[in-house]
Amino acid sequence: MTQMRKNRNDYVWDTISSVEELGRIRMAAMDTFLADFNAGKNDGRYIAGKLPLLPFEGGSFDIALSSHLLFLYSAYFSAEFHLHALQEMLRVSSEVRVFPTVTLDGSPSPHLNFVTKYLVCHGFDAEIKRVPYEFQRGGNEILLVKPV
Ligand SMILES: C[S@@+](CC[C@H](N)C(=O)[O-])C[C@H]1O[C@@H](n2cnc3c(N)ncnc32)[C@H](O)[C@@H]1O
Repeated sequence: MTQMRKNRNDYVWDTISSVEELGRIRMAAMDTFLADFNAGKNDGRYIAGKLPLLPFEGGSFDIALSSHLLFLYSAYFSAEFHLHALQEMLRVSSEVRVFPTVTLDGSPSPHLNFVTKYLVCHGFDAEIKRVPYEFQRGGNEILLVKPV
């Protein structure tokens, strides 16, 4: 929250109106998650894994979503890591979605072009779609990938 206060100009405060409201939303989400955690673990709904290798059989899911990891942390994960991560997500699911497509400073990820071109050349359809949600300034596009 201290960091958010410092960087508040990098965010669009229309859906979420203040840093304080953001804090409440995040705490509520954490409470919801923690209240379900033991039951979810027992039901096998929470399974720890780490890209670029996932502990699931091929075709296990309809959709795999990376939210605020790939592209956002382009400075810490290489283009090859991004590609391997997406290929792994495509192995376990019929469709992959990645949001947002910008880096922490709000500029387009330097890996986006490389991975989308590679996937398109290897039998996938890759679409970058504008979405109505924009909290991080400039972060209003999602990458959708599925087999052609
Ligand atoms: C900024 S948080 C985003 C959390 C949540 N997805 C969201 O959008 O609010 C980044 C998340 O990526 C996870 N992460 C870091 N390295 C990862 C990896 N190699 N594979 C999968 N997840 C990873 C972290 O544990 C953290 O939960």
